[in-house]
Amino acid sequence: MAATADYSLTANPGRALPVAVRAEGCRIWTADGREFIDACGGAMVMSLGHRHPRLIEALKRQADEITFTYRFAFSNEPMLELADLIREVSPLDRSWSFFNSSGSESVESAIHLSLLYWQLRGRPSKVELISRYPSYHGSTLGALGLSGSKWRSPFELVLAKNAVAQTPNADIRARRTPAEELEFAVGELEDAIARRGAEHVAAVFLEPISGASAAAVVPPDGYLERVREVCDRYEVLMICDETITGFGRTGTWFGVDHWNVKPDVLTFAKGVTSGVVPFSGMVVAGNIADVFVASEHGFPVGHTFSGYPLGCAVGAELIRTIRDEGLLANAQAMGARLRAGLDQIALASPHIGQVRGLGLLQGIELVQDRESLEPLPGASLRVTDAARSNGLMIYSCPTPFGRRVIESIMLAPPLTITPADVDLILDRLADAIGAA
Ligand SMILES: Cc1ncc(COP(=O)(O)O)c(C=O)c1O
Repeated sequence: MAATADYSLTANPGRALPVAVRAEGCRIWTADGREFIDACGGAMVMSLGHRHPRLIEALKRQADEITFTYRFAFSNEPMLELADLIREVSPLDRSWSFFNSSGSESVESAIHLSLLYWQLRGRPSKVELISRYPSYHGSTLGALGLSGSKWRSPFELVLAKNAVAQTPNADIRARRTPAEELEFAVGELEDAIARRGAEHVAAVFLEPISGASAAAVVPPDGYLERVREVCDRYEVLMICDETITGFGRTGTWFGVDHWNVKPDVLTFAKGVTSGVVPFSGMVVAGNIADVFVASEHGFPVGHTFSGYPLGCAVGAELIRTIRDEGLLANAQAMGARLRAGLDQIALASPHIGQVRGLGLLQGIELVQDRESLEPLPGASLRVTDAARSNGLMIYSCPTPFGRRVIESIMLAPPLTITPADVDLILDRLADAIGAA
């Protein structure tokens, strides 16, 4: 039976959005008969596109067996299997995993873990967290406290002020060389730790490649390795939020795999189940997990749905599918094709200040002109609207940064994308940028 009206309290109450009724791969169809190419997976969720048959089959298989276990009473087979598979694909040594239902929840779990870790190590004064701006780590108050993002503002008075170090390469107007940027950004982090006193700092949180807040900003080579050194020197945990970059998005299993670095903890979400069920997790290096394994209560903090069998079954099948279908290689090849096309579009537009990203996570910063590189006010929403009118879904990332709002858009098509669909995305995007 059709609803009589829209009473869902969303960001658009009363302003009806198109009703999506079916989706497959990178296409979405609406009740009024329109077709959209989904080039951003909503919010960078659709790693294998919509309704990948292997993921749907894994969901059905598991639903026929058992759909819920409570973590204090039972384990479940897909959870054991997924933690095992993650050991094979994660860059962390001897990794252990803990599963949740959203990116924010897993960031909260990483906060819990970092505070408990130092308590168990007999260093209870290490309670401060440091993160960067711009950044986004989630909407729960702990994760929002870590975020250097516009979403903070209504809640600023109750949020922790963790986002105090600048993200490298986030300000293209600074025109620093990669070597200068490296020193600048590592200095930002060291200064932040020094200001709080290393004896008070528990962990540094960062997105290895920026997502929603900074549109695919990539750090200079050597940055993450230097962050690792700083964290080791000051005895601070290094926690990488791979909510967007996990599971192949940038052409490697995890974003950090582009560099020679092993964080202490990784968080992931979104792409791990490609939108089939809400699911997320945290991967912990063996030497950190050992402390919990040896303790009386292990890692006791979580959520009712931690270790949800349906999510674990789909996540395990996603890893097998990426392997069996060679999807990391496809993400690299299609990412290169997408990037080449975006670079061409940039040559033709004076309003594109930078194209950036890795693999199938690509961002475009929109500017008034290439000389000043000043942001073009409202441009990201205008381009996103024009693209939508043209049947193309892209992600807009207007981000407050000092006295400016940086204007950028982001693309994140599925790892399964074909060359023809990459070309279609590029054609529609070029039209949208022209029209906007
Ligand atoms: C890097 C990062 N961390 C955490 C989150 C929060 O994830 P969720 O919205 O699933 O809670 C997001 C969401 O966009 C994200 O991009």
